[in-house]
Amino acid sequence: MCGIVGAIRSANHNVVEFLTDGLKRLEYRGYDSSGIAVLMDGKIKRVRRVGRVANMEAAAHDKGVSGQIGIGHTRWATHGGVTEPNAHPHISGDKIAVVHNGIIENFEAERSRLRELGYEFESQTDTEVISHSVRHEYEQNGGDLFVAVQAACKRFHGAYAIAVMAQDNSQNMVVARMGCPLLVAFGEGETFIASDVSAVIAFTRQISYLEDGDVALLQAGSFVKLVNKNGEDVQREVKTSGLSLASLELGAYNHFMQKEIHEQPRAVADTAEVFLDGGFIPENFGKNAPQVFQEIDSIKILACGTSYYSALTSKYWLESIAKIPTDVEIASEYRYRDVIANPKQLIITISQSGETLDTMEALKFAQSLGHKHSLSICNVMESALPRNSELVLYTRAGAEIGVASTKAFTTQLVVLFGLAVTLGRMHGLVSDEKLAAYTQELRELSGSIQHALNLEPQIAAWAQKFAKKSSALFLGRGIHYPIALEGALKLKEITYIHAEAYPAGELKHGPLALVDENMPVVVIAPHDGLLDKVKANMQEVSARGGELFVFTDLDSDYEGGVDNIHIIRTPRHVGVLSPIVHTIPVQLLAYHTALARGTDVDKPRNLAKSVTVE
Ligand code: F6R
Repeated sequence: MCGIVGAIRSANHNVVEFLTDGLKRLEYRGYDSSGIAVLMDGKIKRVRRVGRVANMEAAAHDKGVSGQIGIGHTRWATHGGVTEPNAHPHISGDKIAVVHNGIIENFEAERSRLRELGYEFESQTDTEVISHSVRHEYEQNGGDLFVAVQAACKRFHGAYAIAVMAQDNSQNMVVARMGCPLLVAFGEGETFIASDVSAVIAFTRQISYLEDGDVALLQAGSFVKLVNKNGEDVQREVKTSGLSLASLELGAYNHFMQKEIHEQPRAVADTAEVFLDGGFIPENFGKNAPQVFQEIDSIKILACGTSYYSALTSKYWLESIAKIPTDVEIASEYRYRDVIANPKQLIITISQSGETLDTMEALKFAQSLGHKHSLSICNVMESALPRNSELVLYTRAGAEIGVASTKAFTTQLVVLFGLAVTLGRMHGLVSDEKLAAYTQELRELSGSIQHALNLEPQIAAWAQKFAKKSSALFLGRGIHYPIALEGALKLKEITYIHAEAYPAGELKHGPLALVDENMPVVVIAPHDGLLDKVKANMQEVSARGGELFVFTDLDSDYEGGVDNIHIIRTPRHVGVLSPIVHTIPVQLLAYHTALARGTDVDKPRNLAKSVTVE
């Protein structure tokens, strides 16, 4: 949540160009207000606006803001409403300007201390304590910005990535990181900083990721000084990023969500490659994995939102293929209860971003209880979760920019399926024939997803009906129940239609009371061992006048047969990987319903992609 950028550019470049471009690329992190501060004619010139970065960019243009050094921020409000005074950068006494991603937990105590010292507050944010605190230290330490930021940071509890500039220092910028992502990037005689590589990639590929506790003094083209959390001089490697600019652009698509849904055949194939080329071997998960996988007796998976639903799906595979007891828990719940730790249990965290605070804190909590072994399944290289886990396997979805997660989910499922087969194979539970069958199913998966994508026109037609509804129910059974949950989440987050998902067998235990002619009921009903049960559940809906929208498959004999039953047939049932294929229709249904309702598909209200607050 929130994205920060900053740069010290060379004489022939206006820093505003980078700040606004970078902020637009970080808008997925928060998009309720934005701002920049630029050193111009010896003064800090600030522009802030509520709404999208484009509003702020237009205002900066009108004001003719330009300069070589500047910082910027795009906000997802936590402390204080969505107002211009609460937008960053925050400035203290026209001397110090700060942008901040994260939360200063002890901001109230800091605010009282600084008030007593005579500082006045103009916003309701926690960030303003940073600008005043740094200014205070700056004045106490003879105008040494580096020392001032180090001293100020020692007082803060919580998480932050900050960039600081001073009105009387046109050459340097200081950045600090604790718990929130931050990178420094170098061009020719230029330095950039950002929360995420997507902000800088159009300008340079030379990236250095800071570690928690690092504070860096930067000048154009290089680090001047870099210290770690103990104040010791350190160096951080500068790597060449392989991210392509095209992967961050819309291309021929209207929305990133649409692009990302359609990228799934490629994303799934790229992610499956590790198993298809290298085999289902533990080494895919890290060099210690063979030993770790021998030692563990059970698995606990911690995740949030869509990643939690991929965990729920994988429980079926892990318990049926690998016969390993698997427990799945919402990360934010796990960390606040009395837990019975088991050092032989593998903790798996699943996250697209790798920086979801709830998941990160849940991992730390598990580790503090004595859980020795951890595996991260993540889409973002070098992010916090893989860095803090013993084992890692990255999904190869590519950058996911739409706030609603799509290709991250299906690629997570590929990795989790690969894990189940790997563990099953290690423990002698997967015969050669079975292995060949699983391999074949994985090979065919991209093609099946492509067939499911071809159903788009039929699903778009259904979406016209959904757009007029205010509620929807999603039903599934067994391994398709988590797909119903995911379908309901997608629909509610981008269309604002209330949607709930139930295991179809639960209907008669309460939710059936909701069913009438106004309640669309979406059913994931592939041809599997539970189809007859699901058919009976659908009868219960029909008998009460409910309108059924059924995703079944070409193998199924389900005909519906009554007026208020609509059927779309997904491709041939792909056995154990069927939940992945059945995800595509529910994603498309949400996308087209959002289009029909005219909501902001990629940036739904109140949300942000990377949830780095509790
Ligand atoms: C829903 C969605 C969220 C995320 C959740 C976890 O479409 O995107 O529910 O899945 O915030 O995020 P990650 O996977 O980055 O930890």
